[in-house]
This record gives sequence, C-alpha cells and structure tokens, in this order.
Amino acid sequence: MSKSPATGPISLLWAQPDDATGIAAIHAELFPTAWDRDAIQALIEHPASLSLVAVRPGRQVVGFIIAQIAADEAEILTIGVASDGQRRGIGRQLVEGAARAAARSDAKRLFLDVAAGNNAARALYASCGFAEIGLRKSYYTLPGGARDDALQLARDLASA
Ligand SMILES: CC(C)(COP(=O)(O)OP(=O)(O)OC[C@H]1O[C@@H](n2cnc3c(N)ncnc32)[C@H](O)[C@@H]1OP(=O)(O)O)[C@@H](O)C(=O)NCCC(=O)NCCS
Repeated sequence: MSKSPATGPISLLWAQPDDATGIAAIHAELFPTAWDRDAIQALIEHPASLSLVAVRPGRQVVGFIIAQIAADEAEILTIGVASDGQRRGIGRQLVEGAARAAARSDAKRLFLDVAAGNNAARALYASCGFAEIGLRKSYYTLPGGARDDALQLARDLASA
C-alpha cells in the first residue's frame, strides 16, 4: 500500500467495497487488533451500514468511519485517520458527517465505545458533543496484557 500524501484537498465520500483495502491498511497502522479487508468490506456492504471515507485526489483513503443504524439508534463501530493526516480536522469531519447521515436516516442518538486511556479520541468526541453514559470495567486488553475500561458515549442527533 502506498502511504497517503500529507497534502491535497480532502473529500468525504460514502465508503465503497473497493475502499476496504485502504481502510484495512490504516486500521492495521492504528489498532493493535487489525480488522482484515474482508471483514471491513462486509461491514461496508451490510444493509445497515453508514460508512464514510476521507480521501485525497485519486481516492487515496486517509480516514474512515464505520457506523451502523438500527431503528432510531446509530453506533460508531470504528474510526481512524492515518497518522500522517491527523490533527487536520479530518476526524471531526468524519464524526460530523456520520452524525448528519444518521440523523437523515431518522436516528435519534449516536453511540460509541472508547478506551478510557485513548485521550485523542476522547477529546475528539467531547468536542463533537458526546457525553459519557456508561462504563465497562477492564473491557479492553491492551498490547502487553494490561486492561483498560471502555467508556460508553452518546450524543443526541437533533442538532446534527
Ligand atoms: C481519534 C482520531 C480519529 C482523531 O482524528 P484527527 O483527524 O486527528 O482529529 P481532528 O484533527 O479532527 O481533531 C478534532 C479535535 O479532537 C481533539 N484531538 C484530536 N487528536 C488529539 C490528540 N492527539 N490530543 C488531544 N486532542 C486531540 C482536539 O480537540 C481536536 O481539535 P483541535 O485540533 O482543534 O484541537 C485519530 O487520533 C486516530 O485515528 N486515532 C487512532 C484510532 C482511534 O483511536 N480511533 C478511535 C477509537 S474509539
């Protein structure tokens, strides 16, 4: 896989099955337990999928968000921005884009889980209006075997 260039305009697009390869490469870079290409493609193709990619010209994936809608609720399953594209507002665009799309599909609330120690993601979600609604103790196993809590966050979509 070629690395995403750090320059060039960003477009937010609906994720397509062919984006799974680029998403999987970024997922492997960011997460200790990588989701493989086929699993990501299946999520994109799922009827309840609400998945977006942030791409540079040539459809080079630099970020992704994979969410699902069930009745009037939506859940973010995973989000990531390639390390050389972070802190440029792409993560916020992905969250806000998914929130808008979920609201247009009549979802009333958007949920997600985040590791308590993931300060970057927690700051992003706080800045996007999420509030803590629950805690799963020692939910995640970190590299090396340590455990971390999962915080459950939610945001109303009335303003999305
Ligand atoms: C979390 C993540 C998606 C953020 O993406 P990003 O494109 O860098 O985020 P943005 O540039 O849109 O940042 C929006 C806001 O989030 C907060 N933020 C983002 N990264 C941060 C960091 N490293 N430290 C502190 N605050 C951070 C800031 O408030 C930021 O606003 P500011 O830049 O105006 O200060 C990215 O760090 C990432 O991919 N992390 C690894 C994967 C991951 O943890 N996913 C979440 C799993 S729940």
